[in-house]
Amino acid sequence: MSDNDHQTITRVTCTAPVNIAVIKYWGKRDEDLILPINSSLSVTLHQDQLKTTTTIACSRSFREDRIWLNGKEEDVSHPRLQSCLREIRRLARKRRNTDNPTSEVTSVSYKVHICSENNFPTAAGLASSASGYACLVYALSQLFGVEGELSVVARQGSGSACRSLYGGFVQWKLGERSDGKDSIAEQVEPESYWPEVRVLILVVSAEQKSVGSTSGMHTSVETSHLLKCRADVVVPGRMEQMIGAIRQRNFAVFGDLTMKDSNQFHATCLDTYPPIFYLNDISRKIISLVHRYNQHYGETRVAYTFDAGPNAVIYTLQEHLPEFLKVVLHFFPPEVNGGEFLRGLPVNLTPLSEELKREIKMEPTPKGIHYIISTKAGPGPCTVDDPNLHLLDAGGLPKKNA
Ligand code: DP6
Repeated sequence: MSDNDHQTITRVTCTAPVNIAVIKYWGKRDEDLILPINSSLSVTLHQDQLKTTTTIACSRSFREDRIWLNGKEEDVSHPRLQSCLREIRRLARKRRNTDNPTSEVTSVSYKVHICSENNFPTAAGLASSASGYACLVYALSQLFGVEGELSVVARQGSGSACRSLYGGFVQWKLGERSDGKDSIAEQVEPESYWPEVRVLILVVSAEQKSVGSTSGMHTSVETSHLLKCRADVVVPGRMEQMIGAIRQRNFAVFGDLTMKDSNQFHATCLDTYPPIFYLNDISRKIISLVHRYNQHYGETRVAYTFDAGPNAVIYTLQEHLPEFLKVVLHFFPPEVNGGEFLRGLPVNLTPLSEELKREIKMEPTPKGIHYIISTKAGPGPCTVDDPNLHLLDAGGLPKKNA
C-alpha cells in the first residue's frame, strides 16, 4: 500500500462498559431482531476495571470488512456482526441523504477493519458480548457520524449490549412493536445519583460457560412455563419496584429484588427441559454466606446476582464493603498471597469480630474463589482521543498480534 493510501485511512477508537443485570433478560420473542419477552434493568460497571476497547479504520483501499478480537482474526460474516454493520450503514446513508447531502462524512461505502480487545478475560463469563457489541456500535456511529437511537442497533448484536450504551442504572424496555423500534435502552439514573453503590465480582470459575445464553434462553422459551409466568406476571411489577428503589436509594429493596430476580432466573433454568445448571457448589455457598451475613444484621446490606455462569456479582454500599470483603476472605481463603486475589478498586479491610464468624457458621472453602474484582457503577461509552491508543496502525492492521 502506498503512503498516499495510508493518508486516506480514518481511525476511531472507543471504549464501552460491561453491565450486570439486577432484573434479568431471559427469552426472546423474535430471535432475528433480538426482541425480549420481558424488560430488564442493569448497573453499568466502571470502565477503569472492565471495558472493551475497539478501533475501527476505514479506507477506500480496503478490499473487505475484517475483524480481530483479542488478537485473533475472526470470521466477519457472523450474522449478528453483519446486522450491526448493515444497520449503522443504513442509518448513515439516511442521515447523509436527509441532513446534509453534500457533507464530507466518512464514506459509508468504504470497507472497515475492526480491532477489539477486553481488559478482562473473555472466558471469565463476564458478559463480554455486551461491552463488545456496545463498543462496536458506538465506534461505528462515531466513524460514520450517526446519531440517535443506537441501542436498537446494539441490541441486534446481543440483547444485553443495548444496556451498555448508557452509564449508571439502565433499563431495556421490551417494547410492543414487531419491528423492534421501541425495544430500546434508557438511563434510569446516572452513576453519580447513587455513588455509594459498590460491586464485587467473585470469579468462581474462569472456564467457558456450559450452555451459552442464546441457546439457553431459546430452550427456556420453548419448554419453561415458569419463564412465561415470570415474563408476563412477575417482571412488570419488579421493574417498577426496582426503578423506585433506585430513585429512593433504598438499598434493602434494591438488594432483595436483585437476589429474588437472580433466584427466579436460575429457577427458570431448572424448569427448562432439559434443565440448565449455571450455579455450582461455590455459587450456592456464596448465596448462603450473603443471607447469613444479612441475617446477622437483620437487614439487607449485601446482595448477590448470577448470570449464565457460576460467578457471583455482589452489590453493596461503600460503608459495608470492607467488612463483607473480610468475611469473603475468611470463608474463601485465597490460594497463597492476597496480592493478585483482590483486583480493581482498593478496599481498607477491617478486622472481623469473632461473634460474626461464629454466627455465620460455615466451614471455610479454601481456593473456592479464584480472584475478586472490586468496582463500582460507571459511565457509558467514551471516545479515545489519543491516537497512540489506536489498536490498528496507520495501515489499518492490528498493532500487536497477541
Ligand atoms: C443472563 O445478551 O448474552 O446475562 O441476546 O442472545 O446475545 P443474546 O443474550 P445475552 O443474554 C444475557 C443474559 C443474562 C441476563 C442479562 O444480562 O439481562
